[in-house]
Amino acid sequence: MLVSGRQILNHAHENGYAVGAFNVNNMEQVQAIIEAAEETKSPVIIQASQGGLKYAGVEYIAAMAKVAAEKASVPVAIHLDHGTDFKQIMACLRNGFTSVMIDGSHYELEENIRKTKQIVEMAHAVGVSVEAELGKIGGVEDDISVDEKDATYTDPDEAERFVKETGVDYLAIAVGTAHGPYKGEPKLDFDRIKVIKERLNMPLVLHGSSGVPEESIKKAVSLGINKINIDTDIRMAFHKAVKAFVADNPDVYDPRKIVGPARIAMKEVIAEKMKMFGAAGKAWK
Ligand code: G3H
Ligand code: 13P
Ligand code: ZN
Repeated sequence: MLVSGRQILNHAHENGYAVGAFNVNNMEQVQAIIEAAEETKSPVIIQASQGGLKYAGVEYIAAMAKVAAEKASVPVAIHLDHGTDFKQIMACLRNGFTSVMIDGSHYELEENIRKTKQIVEMAHAVGVSVEAELGKIGGVEDDISVDEKDATYTDPDEAERFVKETGVDYLAIAVGTAHGPYKGEPKLDFDRIKVIKERLNMPLVLHGSSGVPEESIKKAVSLGINKINIDTDIRMAFHKAVKAFVADNPDVYDPRKIVGPARIAMKEVIAEKMKMFGAAGKAWK
């Protein structure tokens, strides 16, 4: 069942859980996500980054995700992750994505608002939902000081103004996570999540969620996170399974035999995340 990002995330916002948004570059990842969603009866978001779309081609990703969504009994949205390129965002709208992210977080506030507003107008005109980002998520270190926090984490006043002026459907906030593997344990600014949720009362998004401990994820969800992005943990599950298979079977050259076990390993990781996020059993008809 293909639905808009807003339908999925408003349901999560109203019912106090988070939907997993999992990155894909190939068929096995799309299938692993759908199998996990069916098994756990979870609504789900299949997302591709600009890099993922360049690798596979936007038409291929859109076609695979649409087949998966249409065959699935659970609600599925197809989302562009970290869109910065205007043409690529338009290509996603044209190819049937039901959600796009415009990531203007590296611009000054005024420019981020301007760019986000433009995409919201276009996407909403064709029924597609929009995620935007405020604050700086990447490269945040464990031992960040209070001053630095205020400079890079999402400011609740700015967030309120940003949402009012752009009309965005859900907002990615910077609260202490970072993309990729963590060196130490990430420390989330839970108070900030709470304040932003109270002020905005809308679906909030957590990026860089691979490797965040279960208790932190659960607390973040309880405070109002409704979309949780996972890429690295799926990549690692893929890598580990392929490496193990090739080590045990150095002469096997059939791609199905090499990548098949990785599809199962990815599905297992994804199903665990769905349960952790509180999405299991939340699929509606
Ligand atoms: O947020 C970034 C995602 O992990 C996608 O990474 O640009 O290497 O596809 P990528
Ligand atoms: P991780 O790779 O750290 O899970 O981050 C994923 C993400 O935020 C995609 O936008
Ligand atoms: Zn991200």
